[in-house]
Amino acid sequence: MAKEYNWHRVADADDELAAEAVITVQDVAGKKVCVTRYQGELYAFAHKCPHAGAFMQEGYIDAVGNIVCPLHRYKFSVKNGRNTSGEGFYLKTYPIELRPEGVFIGFEKGWFSW
Ligand code: FES
Repeated sequence: MAKEYNWHRVADADDELAAEAVITVQDVAGKKVCVTRYQGELYAFAHKCPHAGAFMQEGYIDAVGNIVCPLHRYKFSVKNGRNTSGEGFYLKTYPIELRPEGVFIGFEKGWFSW
């Protein structure tokens, strides 16, 4: 079954959200979500690391498109949250859509993480 999303408008235009490899924190319907840009595309992901809760905006984006956690340096793909350094965790990611009326981040319907 296809996933359904509740879409939340976060900006007028995509260049307001994050410069290349910069991680910003957005308030999306009362939840904090990190946004970054990698190779020109925007990506959204969880504000806290799934390992021990570090704030992901204090990490960085490496040259091959991983978010690197600031605390223990676990790596997660910006594209799908896969834990590319192999510890078996998964970083929640969110779809971003650029529409004529602005930039939207989607939360899966029925999903509550905190
Ligand atoms: S808290 Fe992120 S890797 Fe440990």
